[in-house]
Amino acid sequence: MTTKPQFTTLPAGREPVLRVMPMPADANIHGDVFGGWIMSQVDIAGSIPAARRAAGRVATVAVNAFQFKKPVFVGDLLSFYAEVVKTGSTSVTVEVEVYAQRQRLDAEIVKVTDATLTYVATDEARRSRPLPTL
Ligand SMILES: CC(C)(COP(=O)(O)OP(=O)(O)OC[C@H]1O[C@@H](n2cnc3c(N)ncnc32)[C@H](O)[C@@H]1OP(=O)(O)O)[C@@H](O)C(=O)NCCC(=O)NCCS
Repeated sequence: MTTKPQFTTLPAGREPVLRVMPMPADANIHGDVFGGWIMSQVDIAGSIPAARRAAGRVATVAVNAFQFKKPVFVGDLLSFYAEVVKTGSTSVTVEVEVYAQRQRLDAEIVKVTDATLTYVATDEARRSRPLPTL
């Protein structure tokens, strides 16, 4: 008896903050997407809930953890899920998870990246400022 492979699904009940498809200019000569390109997209995705929590501009102060679990290819449809996991007096720490939907008939979904980043709420002079109370 043959069993069908069990594919990952996108997280149920959650909306991605960002969806994007890497193009050939984002990849090396083998069609594998550069890690730096993924990191910049993760930074953008994480900044969305951070800026919402800070009610204004934020700056990335640290990339606490970053794991490339599976390769990303040109034409993958990437979905970025981001949520605030910690706040301090000026900082917001966000966990970002990235899923790729492969450009194939079976549209396999794989989790490709896990990251945690910290953002600091900043003012017009780029100095840190306290987070607003909720
Ligand atoms: C963001 C910035 C204004 C913060 O300056 P600061 O207020 O003097 O920094 P502090 O050391 O007081 O830290 C501010 C907050 O960040 C947190 N933080 C600082 N370094 C951190 C690290 N490595 N990991 C996690 N959190 C960190 C602190 O714990 C503090 O949080 P809290 O206020 O919630 O307790 C300054 O570091 C900066 O301008 N950095 C460059 C930002 C930037 O340009 N990013 C884009 C990439 S180049």
